[in-house]
Amino acid sequence: MPTVSAKPIAPSETCLSFERSAARVAENAKHIAGGVNSNFRTGMAGGPLVFERGEGPHLIDVDGNRLIDYYCGMGAMVLGHSPKDVQQAVKDQVEKGILYAGQSEVEFEAARILCERIPSAQRVRFGSSGSEVAQAAFRLARAATGKRIILKFEGHYHGWFDNVLWSTAPAQNAAGPDNAPVKVAGSVGQLASAADDLDVICWNDLGKLEARLAKNDIAAVIMEPAMCNQGAIAPAPGYLEGALAACRRHGAILIFDEVITGFRLDRAGAQARFGVTPDLSIFAKAIANGFPVAAIVGRADLLDMFVTGGVLHGGTFNSQPVTMAAMVATQKMLTPEGYEAASRRGVRLRDGIRGILKDAGIKAQVTGFELMFHVGFGLDAPARNYRDLLRCDKALYVRFAHGLLKRGVRVLERGAWFVSFEHEDAVIDTTLDAVRNAAREIAA
Ligand SMILES: Cc1ncc(COP(=O)(O)O)c(C=O)c1O
Repeated sequence: MPTVSAKPIAPSETCLSFERSAARVAENAKHIAGGVNSNFRTGMAGGPLVFERGEGPHLIDVDGNRLIDYYCGMGAMVLGHSPKDVQQAVKDQVEKGILYAGQSEVEFEAARILCERIPSAQRVRFGSSGSEVAQAAFRLARAATGKRIILKFEGHYHGWFDNVLWSTAPAQNAAGPDNAPVKVAGSVGQLASAADDLDVICWNDLGKLEARLAKNDIAAVIMEPAMCNQGAIAPAPGYLEGALAACRRHGAILIFDEVITGFRLDRAGAQARFGVTPDLSIFAKAIANGFPVAAIVGRADLLDMFVTGGVLHGGTFNSQPVTMAAMVATQKMLTPEGYEAASRRGVRLRDGIRGILKDAGIKAQVTGFELMFHVGFGLDAPARNYRDLLRCDKALYVRFAHGLLKRGVRVLERGAWFVSFEHEDAVIDTTLDAVRNAAREIAA
């Protein structure tokens, strides 16, 4: 494929074309199902795009468009697309070897960093994806408690495996009453029996959680400590503390899924930000800025069941040295000063969008955090859980996302915005110009 030079675009330009991306995806659908390698890459503004490279806050596609990127690798690229130290660490490690099927000093350093940084991390084990380490957490919890059921929350996502891909984004008419949600499969091909050992309730309501735990049959409660796969919703005051206390009372393990919140809401995770230490936590995405690293961390007595409790954990690519080198370099670049500067810009962007939408007369709630927030069109008040998010005007937001893409700003159609350390002030200004123009267009 020829290399195309990137065209800088003016903020008001509304004519970007994505024809070459569309053609390449269509041509390659003869080899790759649908031309994409994740179902989550279809159904997006502009169609699935094909990229040539990433630079700082930008992605350059095969049509030569230089897009300001707020997907940030679905949240993974907290340092942006070209963090020099990470790139160099990876090159250096490749020179030294790719996969040893043994231990390496770089993985020991990666583990030490996590144990020193993350409040719940007395021990760690590495894997390659968030979906996979969620399974390890379930296995540990069942082994430790002798109980069967995993309790999850509506709208929370913990990977694509059969036993947990339930009620991640159920339609209103399928979700059932909010005091007894129906378990809704996320995919055709999932057996109903895959949910036999799973229960689903609404999040952010301590009474509902306590009532469910009172049956004393729950092995583990898993939640995003701030709900970010859908929306960007902080836990209600006291909710996380209450959940931990209720788990303790009823002999359940509390698992925080920090796959999104980790290294975004705080360099030590949402657990540090909210001051609640769960029994187990899982991390992925931003942990190694785009390299496939995931971690399960937690209480030593639980993690040590992998050694003395007969609980199996494996994986050919676990602690693969190149990814470990990327992780160590990433963690070193995630400095408090870096967070402070990026957070200031993230807040400027978030609040700027809120103001522009208000001025344009578009009803919306812009909520969430500094480096990850959510724009919910049509909401009168900030969402508290998934049920509230169902009131979003998704169709209007999709038009807005298309309007932004035409103007060179790439945002997720579900309303999430991920900000990186490399989204400098000038990039935020250009983004806000595009937001202003796209908002005017849909308000008209
Ligand atoms: C909160 C959360 N947990 C788990 C996962 C699964 O992680 P992975 O895609 O690395 O398997 C995701 C992925 O988006 C996620 O957002």
